[in-house]
Amino acid sequence: DAMPARRLWLIGIPILIAIGAALLLWRPAEDEQRVSSAPSAGSLTFGGPFTLVDHTGRPVTEKDFLGRYQLVFFGFTQCAAVCPTTLQTISLAMNQLGELADSVQPLFISIDPERDTAELLAEYVSYFDKRIVGLTGTPSQVGVAAKAFHIYYRRVRDKDGSEQIDHTATMFFMGPDGKYLTFIHPDAATQKIAQVMKMKMENSTKMTSRRE
Ligand code: NI
Repeated sequence: DAMPARRLWLIGIPILIAIGAALLLWRPAEDEQRVSSAPSAGSLTFGGPFTLVDHTGRPVTEKDFLGRYQLVFFGFTQCAAVCPTTLQTISLAMNQLGELADSVQPLFISIDPERDTAELLAEYVSYFDKRIVGLTGTPSQVGVAAKAFHIYYRRVRDKDGSEQIDHTATMFFMGPDGKYLTFIHPDAATQKIAQVMKMKMENSTKMTSRRE
């Protein structure tokens, strides 16, 4: 009489173990999805042709950055909160990447070209990390770049009367071919940013070697 119950256990335990293992295996994928979901929904892509000026005053286009991964972030030097924090986090994430960081070019594109001259940008980005390249341009050149990345930005008056700019603070990770790989939420922790970049770089290396 006790046999059926025991048999149920014998079947039940391996099933529970299998479900548990499956849940454990699923977790990383779920995590990745959370990082790279919303804006990439459907056929929406990020990036495209742009003409800007780098912080040394050199005219550049998106082609000048091909061959390395690009971590793209839009902002402005007088930003009170999000930009400084994010640039700091980007710098720390680059440190965490170790040697892999050599293949990544962080780009800080100003959405305040009226105030952000190349000289000002040079001083600003080097304060955070010498590996970050600051980009600016004419308002219409910046407009083209911002549109390519679906960046929203709007001038607003702060309580103290200073001019601030509301803007999308999402980071974009682009491949060496300039194609969009994933976006990274501005609130992401240093470790998370490094982890996402590393994962994308390892994935594309695997894909390249599979093709060979
Ligand atoms: Ni900002």
